[in-house]
Amino acid sequence: MTDAEAPKLQLPTLQWDPDADEILVCEAVREETHDVKTFVLKAASPRRFSYQPGQFMTYSFEIGGETIHRCYTISASPTRPDAIALTVKRVPNGPVSNWLHDTMRPGMRLKALGPMGSFSCFAHPAPRYLLLSGGSGITPMMSMARTFHDLADAKDIVFVQSARTSADIIFRDELELMARLNANFQFAPVVEAVTPQAPSNGFRGRLSTPMLSLIAPDFLTREIFVCGPAPYMVAVCAMLEAAGFDMRRYHEESFDFAELNRAEQAEVLVAEAMQDLEVPVKTFRVEFTKTRRSIDVPETMFVLEAAKRAGMRLPSSCTQGLCGTCKSKKLSGTVTMTHQGGIRQREIDAGMVLLCCSKPTSDLVIER
Ligand SMILES: Cc1cc2nc3c(=O)[nH]c(=O)nc-3n(C[C@H](O)[C@H](O)[C@H](O)COP(=O)(O)OP(=O)(O)OC[C@H]3O[C@@H](n4cnc5c(N)ncnc54)[C@H](O)[C@@H]3O)c2cc1C
Ligand code: FES
Repeated sequence: MTDAEAPKLQLPTLQWDPDADEILVCEAVREETHDVKTFVLKAASPRRFSYQPGQFMTYSFEIGGETIHRCYTISASPTRPDAIALTVKRVPNGPVSNWLHDTMRPGMRLKALGPMGSFSCFAHPAPRYLLLSGGSGITPMMSMARTFHDLADAKDIVFVQSARTSADIIFRDELELMARLNANFQFAPVVEAVTPQAPSNGFRGRLSTPMLSLIAPDFLTREIFVCGPAPYMVAVCAMLEAAGFDMRRYHEESFDFAELNRAEQAEVLVAEAMQDLEVPVKTFRVEFTKTRRSIDVPETMFVLEAAKRAGMRLPSSCTQGLCGTCKSKKLSGTVTMTHQGGIRQREIDAGMVLLCCSKPTSDLVIER
């Protein structure tokens, strides 16, 4: 075979445009542990992906006749831009994680919005990182570690994964390989329980200050990223505060929107306080055409919150303008919207709004 006859590797030349592209095709499904799978996705029309390691996408799933939105971190690395991946842990009785595990196959299509999010060590350059992960919270850390590894970056990284048993440690082989190949990369698995089926040569118990001092004696000097179940993050945050860590170098991401909703609660309290103090607040009429309801919404309140208070059940998830679940068509009127990437500019131009982060500035008619 001559050089001219040899098959050429065809790679996409166009970039994934978050404002225009949305269809992804599942290329492969990989079993990581007994309850974690990775789904490798490519754009339906060949595209290269550009994102910060640690960012996530919001996917729409059609399950049981309903559209459900969920966010998943991109566990792949932007240094390999032709495909992305999501790595999903089964959540007992969770509709989407179980659907993905049981149903998603190569060739199937998904709609996605993003990449978005600001949880990335590339947004916080530092010479030394400590990446602390619990369970499926490993995914943003994995993307960051893979990126540094592919770039042969000389950053000093300590990567800690806490799991129930050694059988629950996700990406173990790859992390051990990275540690073998790179003297600046240290991998420390921490397991709560040891069983005959899952023996462990790592640390045992729950992450504690003495354990962390053994793993990374200089942890107080590192930039720290944390992601995991809510109780894990609360415990780690308290532990670092008690150890005198400078919390300006502490960064966390929650997979639980109840955590994110705390910020929205604060906004609601401010709106309520203004009402209690009888600060004059304008109120606008908001009409919902499909449900044939009309409610009064103070100018200080998000439309979704006011609708909830009026007993309406509108689709929502993050309530932070991130996930796109509450996206609705505004047929007339004006709003101020403070979203965080959950809506595309072309959708805004077409009159769509996110009700969770839109306050009325006139009477509104919403197609819901
Ligand atoms: C920014 C962001 C990134 C995320 N990235 C990932 C990821 O990379 N991998 C991943 O597996 N999940 C990730 N999640 C969680 C994911 O969006 C879903 O919530 C999860 O897959 C469960 O969906 P579900 O529909 O099966 O159950 P849901 O109905 O969403 O959840 C059922 C219950 O389980 C809780 N829960 C949700 N996720 C977990 C979890 N991982 N561990 C324990 N309890 C949980 C929920 O709070 C809820 O009470 C991410 C979430 C966010 C907000
Ligand atoms: S509920 Fe997530 S963007 Fe509104």
